[in-house]
Amino acid sequence: MARLQLKNVVKSYGIYDAVRGINLEIEDNEFVVFVGPSGCGKSTTLRMIAGLEHITGGEIVIGDQVVNRLGPGKRDIAMVFQNYALYPHMSVRENISFCLEQQKVPRGEIEQRILTAAETLHIKELLDRRPGQLSGGQRQRVAMGRAIVRNPKVFLFDEPLSNLDAKLRVQMRTEIKRLHQVLPTTTVYVTHDQIEAMTMADRVVVMNGGIIEQAGPPQELYHRPASQFVAGFIGSPSMNFLEATLVDRGGALVVSLAAGTTLAVPEERATDYRPHVGKAVVFGIRPESISNRQERPGFAEIQAKIDLVEPLGPQTMVYFTVGDRGLCACIDPESSPRPNSTMSLSFNMNQMHLFDPKTGRSLAMV
Ligand SMILES: Nc1ncnc2c1ncn2[C@@H]1O[C@H](COP(=O)(O)OP(=O)(O)OP(=O)(O)O)[C@@H](O)[C@H]1O
Ligand SMILES: [Mg+2]
Repeated sequence: MARLQLKNVVKSYGIYDAVRGINLEIEDNEFVVFVGPSGCGKSTTLRMIAGLEHITGGEIVIGDQVVNRLGPGKRDIAMVFQNYALYPHMSVRENISFCLEQQKVPRGEIEQRILTAAETLHIKELLDRRPGQLSGGQRQRVAMGRAIVRNPKVFLFDEPLSNLDAKLRVQMRTEIKRLHQVLPTTTVYVTHDQIEAMTMADRVVVMNGGIIEQAGPPQELYHRPASQFVAGFIGSPSMNFLEATLVDRGGALVVSLAAGTTLAVPEERATDYRPHVGKAVVFGIRPESISNRQERPGFAEIQAKIDLVEPLGPQTMVYFTVGDRGLCACIDPESSPRPNSTMSLSFNMNQMHLFDPKTGRSLAMV
């Protein structure tokens, strides 16, 4: 168990900077998930923590020790990879115990640790099989077993569920979370799946182009994204974005959309936004903040021509256009509008966002 600190960590491959100065403190036993698009530097960061990659600049601290010059074997870290990297010629038991034998842990203790891990992961009956005789999910559990018997200070996971089918992914993600509750250990988990990130993490770190865009608890990233990138990345379906101008209309602020539609800004949000009056902005609203429910304070209604309807069961998604921009709304499943019909939709402006079109930063105090 240990605290993990990344201080201005940089990784360059020749002239290409894959990681461009990352600062992050991960608390003892915290479960942190790195998420971001392909190529943003997630695996590189993880591999630097593991010691599999030299760092170009900065400092990595595990517990109280700077580990920059320490080899992977000396960092007391266990890593679970996407492809599990099990030895095909060894049984599950041998795969799990291999590392402990290398460390000359006494036989009795090895047996005890295998048994505890196998019970925790429900793989006791699989111990004598080879990896080739296991399903994807079972292999994944063996790879985790191999990591947990080592009682490491830190667990590192690099997309461990991406080879599994959708149903098993959901099941395993719950199991990993449960495992963390049973065996609290500092954990860094990498994925490009934002739902995985949101459901598992104590804190989500959104990376983009080698930097951290924002780090915070899942709900904070969802409700108070610091940038348009985070706003568009977290949440499914994605937030709607529209070019707009912020206008003062007789003392009250309105968002004026390209198509001539205006939406009133609730008074409590106006203080944050007032300095930006007259400027071009990007207006953001999540599909779940647009509905066909009755108007309430802070709601702004428009008449929308529905292009497409998607009934999902618990909710129905509708697609419509404002100006030349397509938007998505999440409406009550009881109402089933026809394509090409017109319906009134209410924008819950208490949940609106505004971003700077040049920098992409949120214009609210985050
Ligand atoms: N050995 C290397 N030499 C040169 N460039 C590299 C090397 N390893 C990684 N990169 C580059 O560094 C960037 C970050 O790579 P990284 O593997 O960390 O991305 P990632 O966020 O894990 O992406 P993915 O979701 O696709 O796994 C990429 O642009 C990649 O091409
Ligand atoms: Mg990767």
